[in-house]
Amino acid sequence: MGRPTGAKKVRRNQATFDYIVCKQLFTKAGLRSFYNAGGPISAPVGAMEVKANWVPADEVDSADYYVSEAPDGKKYALTAMHIIRKVLPDWTWATFEHQNNPGRCDYTGCRDAYGALVTDVDASDVRDRPYSACAKNDALKAMLSAAGLSPVWEHYCLKGSQTDFVSATGLPTHLGNSVTEAGFADTSSCITCHARAAVNAKGIMTTPAGFVDPPIPALCPNPSGSCSPNGAPDPNWFWTNPGKFDQAAVAMQTDFIWSIARFAIGD
Ligand code: HEC
Repeated sequence: MGRPTGAKKVRRNQATFDYIVCKQLFTKAGLRSFYNAGGPISAPVGAMEVKANWVPADEVDSADYYVSEAPDGKKYALTAMHIIRKVLPDWTWATFEHQNNPGRCDYTGCRDAYGALVTDVDASDVRDRPYSACAKNDALKAMLSAAGLSPVWEHYCLKGSQTDFVSATGLPTHLGNSVTEAGFADTSSCITCHARAAVNAKGIMTTPAGFVDPPIPALCPNPSGSCSPNGAPDPNWFWTNPGKFDQAAVAMQTDFIWSIARFAIGD
């Protein structure tokens, strides 16, 4: 199977929506007043966002996929899904892939200690190959069926999850989806790139999408491609002279939510 290209959609739960609306975070004026008041932007515990990638259902063996009908009547199959939830202050980050996605465990391997029979799958040296199915344990199967979910969900694999910028020994943690982060799955770190979502005193995003741009060879193994920052956030993204006596803030984080920084309306 080749890699079909498709559409992506983002959804957020009521807690996140209410926070954004009540605090006027969808306008640049609202972001400016937050900035002037010293912030911080912090969504409530329980906030949740989902980003999903879809392809036209006739491009895949759609019986194996979760299929949904768009308002225009066309059917789309789910290939990839990110779920983030504000359980910890820096959110929990998880990404799922349909088991047929070629190259699903490339670069980082796959790790699912929650519901997969095989917890760790090593990355193949040859890219874009299919990986074996992510068969579920009985406990997860029972949970899916108790929730009334169709068995097609058993074809979706938790690729991995992320709760911190670095490991206990200080190595950068990585997580990226072969579909959503196609082209930079080798450097991807959800939590680091999203930490970069920020606005300046005018309520304008300080960087459009968080990439290391231009790529820095020491950080980016493939300098001609896109490169995600990973590891601990760089204080220079948010401060001038960080750590010095004249340290000054130049940016306010939008609590890891890119859409707040990118899509605020008004001037
Ligand atoms: C190099 C930067 C980068 C990396 C790495 C990255 N994202 Fe994002 N993400 C973005 C940008 C930019 C957006 C907003 C535009 C869009 O939706 O495509 C976004 C949107 C999202 C959204 C919708 C909420 C929001 O912030 O607007 C979720 C949820 C999400 N990403 C989860 C993840 C997860 C989970 C991972 C890791 C598996 C990840 N992202 C990796 C840049 C990144």
